[in-house]
Amino acid sequence: MRKPLIAGNWKMNMTDAETKKFLDNLKSLEISDNVEACIISPFTSLKTLNELLKDTDISTGAQNMYYEDSGAFTGEISPNMLKDLGIDYVIIGHSERRTIFKEDDELLNKKIIAALSHNLKPILCCGENLEQRENKIQEKVVENQIRSDLKGITEKELYSKLVIAYEPIWAIGTGKTASSDDAQSMCKFIRNLLTEMYSEEFAHSVRIQYGGSVKPENVAEIMSKDDIDGALVGGASLDTESFSKLINYEK
Ligand code: 13P
Repeated sequence: MRKPLIAGNWKMNMTDAETKKFLDNLKSLEISDNVEACIISPFTSLKTLNELLKDTDISTGAQNMYYEDSGAFTGEISPNMLKDLGIDYVIIGHSERRTIFKEDDELLNKKIIAALSHNLKPILCCGENLEQRENKIQEKVVENQIRSDLKGITEKELYSKLVIAYEPIWAIGTGKTASSDDAQSMCKFIRNLLTEMYSEEFAHSVRIQYGGSVKPENVAEIMSKDDIDGALVGGASLDTESFSKLINYEK
């Protein structure tokens, strides 16, 4: 059984003081055992996040990292720095990194290899833009991303660590959610692709999230689909009450 992973990607939001306030409010709210909840904050809040969540079941994640352990890479954060803080997950290849910061698949492949070798669980993001969907090449786009980003990585290395997040770019921050059927169809396509690349058992063990305008009002419908094992949530994860509703969604 795949335990759903509902993760809040805070993006470039929340100061350290705001993080403390968010977590303080969260303490008084109920957290369901049926899902794994995770908060993915900016680097500047990770220490606070980890300290304040260490006695809870809520996991923590970073939004990016570089692939080298140390050295002259001004402005970058290494996998061992994240591991040292006790971070569980790291997002690799978010569409905002791919488009705004021009991260390509070759770089992302190196980042995934580095994350795995430091025992960090990569949340690999993939997804097409509007033009690609209108041209009906979304499956090809996602297939190319996944094949290139996982190039040379074995099933053994990925086992119980890899999470894939399907985030169609046109649905991010736009209020336009993919229909739950379209999201399911792509998540199923990704699982079939993993079966081609690896074993069926492995493909069925990987959690595949949907991301793009997920909110308390639509999370249950999205989560009702067979191949969707969680959500990666931006805007709606920034408010404690809304985040709590997301992780306690009613089946
Ligand atoms: P929104 O939920 O704000 O659309 O963001 C989705 C996302 O990019 C999560 O990584």
